[in-house]
Amino acid sequence: MLLVGPNGVGKTNLLEGVHVATQGFSPRTRTDSQVVRFGADGARAAVAGGRGDVRMELEVTVQRGEGKRARLNGAPLRAAEQLRTVVSTLVFTPDRLGVVKGPPASRRAYFDRVLGRLAPARATLPAEYGAAVAQRNAALRRAAGGFSGRDAIEPWSERVALLGAELVAARLDALDQLGPSFGARAAELGLDHASLRYEGEPPTQEALAAVLDRDLERGITSLGPHLDDVVLAAGDRDLRNYGSQGEQRLALLALLLAEAETIVDRTGVPPLLLLDDVLSELDPERRRILAARVRSAGQALVTATDAAMLPATPDQLLEVTSGTVLEAAA
Ligand SMILES: Nc1ncnc2c1ncn2[C@@H]1O[C@H](COP(=O)(O)OP(=O)(O)OP(=O)(O)O)[C@@H](O)[C@H]1O
Ligand SMILES: [Mg+2]
Repeated sequence: MLLVGPNGVGKTNLLEGVHVATQGFSPRTRTDSQVVRFGADGARAAVAGGRGDVRMELEVTVQRGEGKRARLNGAPLRAAEQLRTVVSTLVFTPDRLGVVKGPPASRRAYFDRVLGRLAPARATLPAEYGAAVAQRNAALRRAAGGFSGRDAIEPWSERVALLGAELVAARLDALDQLGPSFGARAAELGLDHASLRYEGEPPTQEALAAVLDRDLERGITSLGPHLDDVVLAAGDRDLRNYGSQGEQRLALLALLLAEAETIVDRTGVPPLLLLDDVLSELDPERRRILAARVRSAGQALVTATDAAMLPATPDQLLEVTSGTVLEAAA
């Protein structure tokens, strides 16, 4: 589905609304009140559709000062974020290029969300590990300040080692699942020999003991997967530093398409793809390849300022003007 309209009419807003309705949160901000229209008290986003053969209605409302509520087929959910376990929505926005060109923290956050989508049972692991590191750091500071002995750090080191090893294993597992499709989709888009490589080792208790003096001095845990990285490479080129803008965009798209394929393999249900401003900066041949691939990847909503930017006929063409969306003849 192609959504066209001039700058500033609300195409991105529309995709954001679909994301809120299907996932329970905005891809742009963690502050729910930011999705409410200026001057309004609340916002409501609702979508109806099918997941395989099952009909579904999803609805999310955000009320200023009251928080967020979600319903699935009319029944209230405990938390809006539960929608994530019902529908997978994958987003491309130009902001997301930070996954390729940003600091390691952006890739860790991205791949930890990927691992949550691919292995829902492990979705809470990154947060549990983060909490263990925070506890160990607090214990380090207490010991350094003389408020407790060094042995009080030990249980937290154990927990960091245990959860850290699990997190590294889960991330490696997610990368193993994505790697082959990532390489294939990137090659198809003209980015050869693309790969995902994990940089980091599972932390062990011995390794943590070896850095204890340094950690006590600094009050932070200086090794573990909270400091690891995932290198997106083309051949032996790290795309973070040596990729062109277009190549970085292709890598992010290949990543998204690879995840979509992996989700279909695992669940049999294709995800919803929201591709905002994806066509700009790609040459016509790559746009054509992308359009063909997206068509087979699941339902996709693609925005552009001009219908001619998509060198293919969309199944549905929608014209966005300020405040309204109209079906246009494709
Ligand atoms: N909470 C809000 N309430 C009302 N208007 C808002 C809110 N947040 C953003 N806007 C406005 O919505 C307008 C449309 O923004 P949007 O980013 O969706 O446009 P767009 O069609 O994607 O444009 P472009 O082609 O430039 O990407 C902007 O002018 C912005 O100021
Ligand atoms: Mg926009």
